[in-house]
Amino acid sequence: MHTRKDQRDLTAAERRRFVAAVLELKRAGRYDRFVRTHIDYYKADGATGLRAAHMAPSFLPWHRQYLLEFERELREVDPAVTVPYWDWTRDRSPVGPPWGEDFMGGNGRRGDLQVTTGPFAYAAGNWTVSVGVTEDRFLTRDLGRPKDPLDLPTREELAWATGEAVYDTEPWNSTSRGGLRNRLEGWGQGRGSARWRNHNRVHRWVGGHMLGGASVNDPVFWLHHAFVDLVWSRWQRRNPGAPYLPAAQPPAGSAQRGRVVARDEPMPPWDVTPAQLEDHSGLYRYG
Ligand code: CU
Ligand code: CU
Repeated sequence: MHTRKDQRDLTAAERRRFVAAVLELKRAGRYDRFVRTHIDYYKADGATGLRAAHMAPSFLPWHRQYLLEFERELREVDPAVTVPYWDWTRDRSPVGPPWGEDFMGGNGRRGDLQVTTGPFAYAAGNWTVSVGVTEDRFLTRDLGRPKDPLDLPTREELAWATGEAVYDTEPWNSTSRGGLRNRLEGWGQGRGSARWRNHNRVHRWVGGHMLGGASVNDPVFWLHHAFVDLVWSRWQRRNPGAPYLPAAQPPAGSAQRGRVVARDEPMPPWDVTPAQLEDHSGLYRYG
């Protein structure tokens, strides 16, 4: 049982050890396997077949398991390390934490958006993007998207998601109007920036590699998803009678039949079900 901490509360030594463990996984080729898995499971509503990771009910348990796998490998390198979380309703500036020189490093530079500071700067020699959907070899960011600014999600916007009393609703995709899952994943209605809410909006705000399937190339991905997981965890505690949905496959004739994971079905690429991941109290806690 270990504790995941708010990144703003880490000591300098904890930051250093987290970064060192991430860099060791990268050096050993293990980090890029996580990038590949995420790209492979980056499927949208329109895709045929099963959607396990995104635009689907299992968005939350899929990323819970994905974080656990990553954290397990980090802890093989250094047993004291856990994945910190970034509360983006609180740390909202492109210059404060988690963007310090000794942690995530800063924004991308003008022009090519290349991150040039911190441990993941290309020139530092330890972070070459080798599995991606573009040709960029260097990590990119565009914090706050100055050309067309948008803000990080607010506390109120997060409450718009966590105020929902059910886990997910039909049609179990990015157009579900109610339910925690789609409001937290953040597929909103409307045009422009209004379309991006909560989790999705954070990916837009960071920009660069965080925009697409290869977003895992930016290590802030893990801090972001640890916070999403924490939000789900708190919601579960406040809604003890609200299980993962759907409980079973949608009925014959439904467009979503066979395309979403029901509560007791395995989530590829793992042999674990959403039901088995609902209670994480035996594995880790949030501090
Ligand atoms: Cu994802
Ligand atoms: Cu994400």
